[in-house]
Amino acid sequence: MNNSVRVRVPAKVNLALRVGQTDAQGFHELGTVFQAVSLGDEILAEDAGPGDFKLAFHGEGAAFLPVDDTNLAMRAAKLLAQHVGRTDVGVHLTVRKRIPVAGGMAGGSADAAAVLVACSALWGLGLSREELHTLGAQLGSDVPFMLMGGTAIGTGRGVDLAPLMTSGTYHWTFALSHSGLSTPAVFREFDKMSQPDDTEIPHALIEALRAGDAPALGAALCNDLEAPAIALQPTLAHTLRLGLEAGALGAVVSGSGPTCAFLAGSEAHSHELAESLAVFSGVRAVRRAYGPVAGAQVMS
Ligand code: C5P
Repeated sequence: MNNSVRVRVPAKVNLALRVGQTDAQGFHELGTVFQAVSLGDEILAEDAGPGDFKLAFHGEGAAFLPVDDTNLAMRAAKLLAQHVGRTDVGVHLTVRKRIPVAGGMAGGSADAAAVLVACSALWGLGLSREELHTLGAQLGSDVPFMLMGGTAIGTGRGVDLAPLMTSGTYHWTFALSHSGLSTPAVFREFDKMSQPDDTEIPHALIEALRAGDAPALGAALCNDLEAPAIALQPTLAHTLRLGLEAGALGAVVSGSGPTCAFLAGSEAHSHELAESLAVFSGVRAVRRAYGPVAGAQVMS
């Protein structure tokens, strides 16, 4: 058993997000392609006395985050302890945030996934990836993918995952918004304005990923939550247009938004896009990242 464990976890962008009918619990059926990207958080988990659970955040959006049991990261630690029936454990968690808060990049789910991996190692539990996946799915729809990383198709609520073969590295520029969007609010807006269609992922997108064809991938990016996100934050339409005018291969709202994702042709191109987008008053900040990268993992 270690006294402390550090875990790195990526953010995600949805390359495709198709939204279908709701199930009995009000969750929507999804057809999505996730990609894990290098804009990530780092979690330090330090051993503490029995029942001593603490959480602190530094960095991007830290001031806005609760540190009690309403935070998914805290719930992840307690769920894990409960799952293995251990009342003799505790942990102090410190999260260095880079993933935007309420940004559609799964920041909260990423931290929860990182906590599952960190506490499993810290407490010497040796849980399998499958067990962690099952616990993750109880916490939120994006948590299992943040454990898995890479590029994957997600179906059902988004937790049934199948890894996808891809070629090459994709360079992204992200435009962050001045305020966040609540995922349930965006789904509610979707229900108001859309007739749920099928959740099929465009064949061209899968083919583009297999071939490592960035221009074809850019053309195939799609998100059924983009229109409802724009309805709630109309500035996003300008942000997306600006990125395309600046030469992005594709532009899409990430997940439930409001972060906008722009596919670049190269690392240098992602710098150029970032410079063009940073001057727009509707954009709070820009970030660059590449993908696919690994899911939550212990740092050596
Ligand atoms: O699973 P997660 O906690 O991330 O979901 C947040 C909210 O997003 C849910 O409470 C629900 O309103 C909406 N959601 C949905 N269908 C999904 C996933 C999420 O309606 N498949």
